[in-house]
Amino acid sequence: MSNDFSIAVFISGRGSNLKGLIDGAKYFRVKGVLSDRAAPAGFGFATSSSIPTYSFPRESYASLQQQKDALYSCVDSLAPDLVVLAGYMQIVRADFVERWTGRIINIHPSLLPKYPGLDTHARAIAAGDAEHGCTVHYVAAEVDAGPIIAQAVCPVDPKDTEQALAARVLTYEHRIYPWVVNSIARGGVVLDDGEVRLDERALQEALAQQFIVGARYS
Ligand code: GRF
Repeated sequence: MSNDFSIAVFISGRGSNLKGLIDGAKYFRVKGVLSDRAAPAGFGFATSSSIPTYSFPRESYASLQQQKDALYSCVDSLAPDLVVLAGYMQIVRADFVERWTGRIINIHPSLLPKYPGLDTHARAIAAGDAEHGCTVHYVAAEVDAGPIIAQAVCPVDPKDTEQALAARVLTYEHRIYPWVVNSIARGGVVLDDGEVRLDERALQEALAQQFIVGARYS
């Protein structure tokens, strides 16, 4: 299958979602991995697959503005088809989001709009939620906001620790993120005038995997 469709992945740490994307790539290829950290653990997954890595640690730049400018111009020159945030901890500046609107996505470990921000698993447990999960969405300028592409729901066990729940949600993240990126890459998911639309195949695949998704192409 063609893998002309390329993505750039932003990470800050462990990189297990990056690994899921590398392993699950059917209709795309990972063109580069970028980070706001000097040497995030996840870079190992890129280098072992011969994928170039680019690091932009804040301490190497005179200002946050300069650090972000350097990172963003690297992405612009890589010119991927899609920017994929995967455990990227730095807030992405509004001008970059604007420039990449409809071509930048994020995964967040909660059922948005519930629990944007940090400590999502602890907050779900503290609230006594019976269900928790993860969300893949197009990125908007506000943190953890933007049109939702797909969500995976998992049960919360009343005895769950934060770590146990995080580990369970992560198994869903590793399934849903490659599926979403493959679906976008083959043209089965589009952002149409601010609305996420799926083709019949994407709808059927989502149903089979019990992902929550939006509407069909009109
Ligand atoms: C994941 O839970 C992701 O949803 C969140 O940060 C975590 C990153 O994990 N945004 P990893 O670096 O992909 O292992």
